[in-house]
This record gives sequence, C-alpha cells and structure tokens, in this order.
Amino acid sequence: AMIGKGSYRHFMQKEIFEQPVVIGDTLQSYVDPLSRRVTLPEMPFDFAQIPRLTASACGTAYYAGLIGKYWFEQMARLPMDIDIASEFRYREAPLPENGAALFISQSGETIDTLSALRYTRQEKQHILSIVNQPESAIARESDVALQTLAGPEIGVASTKAFTTQLVVLACLALAAGRARGSLSSEREAELTSALIEVPAQASYFLEREAQLIDIANEMADASDILYMGRGSMYPLALEGALKFKEISYLHAEGYAAGELKHGAMALIDEHVPIVVCAPSGPLFDKTAGNIQEVIARGGRVVLISDSQGIEAIGEGVTHAVEVPEVSPFVAPILYALPLQLLAYHTASIKGTDVDQPRNLAKSVTVE
Ligand code: G6P
Repeated sequence: AMIGKGSYRHFMQKEIFEQPVVIGDTLQSYVDPLSRRVTLPEMPFDFAQIPRLTASACGTAYYAGLIGKYWFEQMARLPMDIDIASEFRYREAPLPENGAALFISQSGETIDTLSALRYTRQEKQHILSIVNQPESAIARESDVALQTLAGPEIGVASTKAFTTQLVVLACLALAAGRARGSLSSEREAELTSALIEVPAQASYFLEREAQLIDIANEMADASDILYMGRGSMYPLALEGALKFKEISYLHAEGYAAGELKHGAMALIDEHVPIVVCAPSGPLFDKTAGNIQEVIARGGRVVLISDSQGIEAIGEGVTHAVEVPEVSPFVAPILYALPLQLLAYHTASIKGTDVDQPRNLAKSVTVE
C-alpha cells in the first residue's frame, strides 16, 4: 500500500510521532502486562549457559546495541561486546564456544551486518537478530529473528526503528537477567512496569514539541554541536549527534561526560552549544559536575532532564527541556525523542532534504 505523510511535513516527523504507538505495539509482543514478565519466543540457547554475547550493527542500530550493552551487563551480568559491523567482519575476533551473536538492523539487508552474521555462523555461534523487516536476509539467516514492530520507516534518518530496537533489547536483557538469576521477579516486574509506561510518557512529551523549536533556531546558527551523557546516556549522545549531522549537515559529536576534559573541553566557548542528557538518578550528580565545568568555561548548555534534574542544576544552563521523570532503565528510550526533534527542527529550519539527506541511503547493501 502507498504510505502517505498525512498531515506531517516529512516522513521523519510522522515517524517520530508514531513512536508511542509502535513502542506500544512492540511491547505488546514481548511483555505480558498482567504478570509483568517478558515473553520471548523459544530461544535456540539458554542465556544462563552462554559465556558472552557478541553483537554487531551499523549506524543507528549500532548505537542501540551500545545501549543494550549497558543493560545486558548491569541487569543480566552477561558480558557483551558490540562492534561496528564493518570492523567486526574483518577483525577475526575469537569467539567463545557456545557463545551467542546478536545483529541489529532495521532493513535486515545491510551488507556489513549480514557479513558479520555469516562470520559468526562459521564460528558456530547461536544467532539472534533484531530486525524491522521480517522477510530480510538477516532475519532468514538467523536462528531467531525478533521483530521490531515499527512498521515501514521511510525517512533515511532512523527514529522509530531505533526506539523499538531499544524496547526489544530491553526485553531481551530482562529475559537474560531472569535466566541467569541476576534479576528477582520483583525487580523484573518493576522494570517491566517502567517499560509499559513509556508510550504514555512519550505522547505526553511529544505534545510539548514546541519547546524544541526555539532551541533548534539557535542550533541552526552554530557550526559545531556537542552532545554528552553518562552511562546509557553516553551512547544516546552518540546517536543524538549522528541524527543531527545526518539531516542538518552541521558537525556534531557525542562524548561521554567524563571524557570531555580529555579533549572536547578545548572546543567549549559561547559558540558551541552542548546538549546534555542527564535524567535524575544515580549518575546525575556526576554529570551535573561536568555541566558546571562547561558553564564555567562559557559554554551554552541545553539540558535535557526531568523536573528534579532541572531544578537541581538551577541557573546557568541556556535551555532546559523537561522530560517526564522515569526509571533510569528506560531513560534512553524516552530521551531519544528530544534528540530526534532537535535534529528534525534544525534541519527543517535550514531547509535540508530531511527525508532524503544528500549522500546517504536508507539501506546500504553494497560495501
Ligand atoms: C543507513 C541508514 C541508517 C541506519 C544504517 C543501518 O546508514 O541511513 O539510518 O541506521 O544504515 O541500517 P540497518 O537497516 O542495518 O539498521
């Protein structure tokens, strides 16, 4: 069927606004809301028996995998490696006996990711994938393919595929945690409840889209933008910077908050906006310290946080974007939205070809 933009200006904008629904659809297929437990199809291996999970992906899917690493390691105590597929496929990584490999891909056709999969097949790993296209090569060549129910994604810059990949990764990590005995059933129920609340929190936030437009106006005049975060907000900062450069054609770079002083701090002045994702929670005070260092050097901070975090930082930030208060576990899913909107509005102010940015393709099937 023909897919239209409806009342939206671009497919990307429409896809951003579809997220509450498609996150909900994806959750519905991997979570039982009554028992508040994760329900996965039968796996070809037992999470309790594998020594390591080796993941590969490209682009936005790679950043989803990096966030997944925080979850698998913290909640399931399962060591996870995640590589850019084009690097993994040639670096001849030794893989453990009875290991499992994970591939994340919207299209399921990205050549580097598919080649990385074939390498792990040769190395006798169990093969799991997270794909949006169930009829794809990656899905076909996997032992189990978990589908993200994002529906067709037309915009080249990935949005709803990313957040639904995060949902599936979160569910997988919970299932692994249960199997490995590192997650009590109370804790699983608590974390599952946090996931179930995301669609409503996402709609609530999207209704407040307008707050991003003023900030985007300022961003459109900058030539360099930094993004920073700590913990699972670090890979999200990388994704925020990627989204921004893909469609605005401005240079953006993501940094781990604690790493800023090892280089990027030299760039800070009143001309370089820095977008900081800092939900309140155990890592907040550390990131707050980094924010103060940036402010002290004249930097313009765009803080994305909840009311508690915004209040704690007080004066000094140039802009504060308020996101509903959520468990740190699901924060990367919700905080993806302001980053997408910031990139989107900056690009539309600049008048770039948002859905089909120059030099980029939706699916990269040649090396
Ligand atoms: C291209 C797209 C990106 C996507 C990446 C991986 O670069 O423009 O949006 O993240 O490929 O694609 P995949 O289909 O494997 O997720």
